[in-house]
Amino acid sequence: EVFQDLSGLSSKEKKLAQLLGIEKVIIVPGDVDVDESIKQHLGNEAALFLMNIAKKENAVAITGGSTIASLTKFLSPTKTLNTLTFVAARGSFGNEMNLQANTLVSQFASQCGADFRTLYLPENLSAAAYATMSEEPVVKEVLDMYEQIDIVIHGIGTAKDMANRRHSSEEILHLLHEKNAIGEAFGYYFDEFGEVIYRINTIGIQLNQVKNSPHIIAVAGGSMKAKAIQAYFKMAAKQTTLITDEGAANEILQSS
Ligand code: G3H
Repeated sequence: EVFQDLSGLSSKEKKLAQLLGIEKVIIVPGDVDVDESIKQHLGNEAALFLMNIAKKENAVAITGGSTIASLTKFLSPTKTLNTLTFVAARGSFGNEMNLQANTLVSQFASQCGADFRTLYLPENLSAAAYATMSEEPVVKEVLDMYEQIDIVIHGIGTAKDMANRRHSSEEILHLLHEKNAIGEAFGYYFDEFGEVIYRINTIGIQLNQVKNSPHIIAVAGGSMKAKAIQAYFKMAAKQTTLITDEGAANEILQSS
C-alpha cells in the first residue's frame, strides 16, 4: 500500500510539473490546511532538496513565513551547508518577528554553522526614503548580494492572507480586491494570470533578480493556496522547483 501511495504521488508530481511548466515538483502526503504538522514535512523536503543542490560558498536568499520557518530544524552543519551565506530576501514587516526573513536567516545559519546577512529596514518605505537608505553601506552590501544569489527559497501566500498580515490600508485592500489579486510572493501581488497588479514599495530582492538565480525553491502547501500557487507559476522562472502537499496538488490538478 505504501508503494502504491508513493507511485501515485510520483505520477502526480510529473503531471503537476507539466501543468505548471517546470522541471520538478515534490509532493508530500496530506494537506497543511487540515493538519498543521504537514508543514514540517514540507520543511523537511525543502531542507533535503537544499542539501542536494547547494554548492560550497553559495549565497541563499530566503523569504519569511511559517512554511519557510519549517525548514529550520531539518538543516544541519554539513561540509557544504556550513559554507553558505543565508541572505534575508526582504526587510521586516508587521510584528511577527519569528516569521521574518531576518530572523530566519540567523536561525538557518546557526543550524548549519553558516553565515548570514540581514536587512533591517521596514518593507513599506517612501520612494525618497528608499533612495536614501539604499545608499547606506550596510544596506547596499545586501542589495548588491541580490545580484548574485545562487539559490532562492521562498513561500507563496494568498493575496488576502498576506494583505491582512501586513495590516494593509483600506486603499490597498480595495485595489487588491478590484484587480482580483490571488497570490503574493516577495511582496508582489498577482492575479490568476500571473500578472503583477501591485507591489509594495519594498526593500528586498526584485523579481528579475529571483529569476536570474540558477535555483529557486518555492515551498507552499494547503488546498487554500492552490489558486495562488497555480497563478504564481504563470510568472515564475522555469528553474523553480515546487515543494507542496497533496492538498494543494489535488486541487490544482482537479481544476485543470
Ligand atoms: O509570501 C508568502 C508567505 O511567505 C507565505 O507565508 O508560509 O506563513 O503561509 P506562510
